[in-house]
Amino acid sequence: MKAVGYFKSLPINDPESLLDLELPTPTPGPQDLLVEVSAIALNPVDTKVRQRRASADGQTPVVLGWDAVGVVRALGSAVRGFALGDRVWYAGDITRPGSNAQFQAVDHRIVARAPASLSDAEAAALPLTAITAWELLYDRLQVQQQAERPVSLLVTGAAGGVGSILVQLARQLPHLTIIGTSSEPEGAGGAWLRELGAHHVISHREPLAPQIARLQAEQGLPPLRYAASLTHTPAHFADLVAALEPQGRLGLIDDFGPGDIDVMALKGKALSLHWELMFTRSMHGTHDIAEQGRLLAEVARLVDAGQLRSTLAEVMGPINAATLKRAHAQQESQRQRGKLVLQGF
Ligand SMILES: NC(=O)c1ccc[n+]([C@@H]2O[C@H](COP(=O)([O-])OP(=O)(O)OC[C@H]3O[C@@H](n4cnc5c(N)ncnc54)[C@H](OP(=O)(O)O)[C@@H]3O)[C@@H](O)[C@H]2O)c1
Repeated sequence: MKAVGYFKSLPINDPESLLDLELPTPTPGPQDLLVEVSAIALNPVDTKVRQRRASADGQTPVVLGWDAVGVVRALGSAVRGFALGDRVWYAGDITRPGSNAQFQAVDHRIVARAPASLSDAEAAALPLTAITAWELLYDRLQVQQQAERPVSLLVTGAAGGVGSILVQLARQLPHLTIIGTSSEPEGAGGAWLRELGAHHVISHREPLAPQIARLQAEQGLPPLRYAASLTHTPAHFADLVAALEPQGRLGLIDDFGPGDIDVMALKGKALSLHWELMFTRSMHGTHDIAEQGRLLAEVARLVDAGQLRSTLAEVMGPINAATLKRAHAQQESQRQRGKLVLQGF
């Protein structure tokens, strides 16, 4: 099968950073589907793993890629609920070979049928970010609780991949007022966020707490009970602590160094900190691993009901090393609005 992979961890402008390869088609294990991949999306994790993980033995290439849409071509002996020919979507498992390949073996419990109303490219934009946003909102921050009281949710980096679906999911809950951040609240970034459902857009180039205080004083913004800090957390941490109401809940998904945030700052207001990692369930085979398949099925249902839309920004071309190099370079800019997708081999 065709695949894109690499042996050495290199900057994206190095000719060997990503290579077109011919690899054996994987054999599905008992819990696996063998999926013929038709479209994939880029995520920051693709570039981070490329920068950090080389081939373990120098011989076996690393194949990246998590978001995928494709068709089931073979079923493991323990698989239930899927049939040959099903069109599926999933975000895979960070411990296994990825979706930058014509065929991929993936545990059926983290897979669901793709939304019928979306093209392969539109659907590929969603799974990884939808799982992250869903788990952060419902399993970690538990925004569905205390729904009788109007409260606010602040989303930093809201126009990126995760934020673009998180804002839409949060907008399903009528007790939440959503504030998204953008570098250009009055420009295209702000317009994108308002279209997706943000009630207010503020600038992450200015201190956040005074902007929240202004919205509360001038527009009656409800108390800030939740913050989803999606990126650059150390830069915004003091503002998030200042803006959250006492007993508020702070959710994190990004990477930073030891000592970059001071958890003692949370004590005075008894703020709670909630980590989300969308690979936890698959990486550890948790008792509730099948929740990911179930939430992807629910997201597909909401898409087909017209309540969520794809966050696709651009279809960059076919799945090969040349297109993937351009996509990695663009993803590394950290200025991405919505998602980059590649389609076909
Ligand atoms: N834990 C998990 O399970 C998980 C899952 C997915 C992603 N992640 C991580 O979460 C982070 C976000 O992922 P993503 O896919 O949403 O990334 P992304 O699409 O690359 O996010 C880009 C967004 O970040 C915004 N941004 C840039 N500088 C900022 C700043 N100083 N303050 C606030 N926002 C800023 C940009 O807005 P402007 O262009 O307007 O500046 C842009 O819209 C990444 O670190 C990723 O690795 C973790």
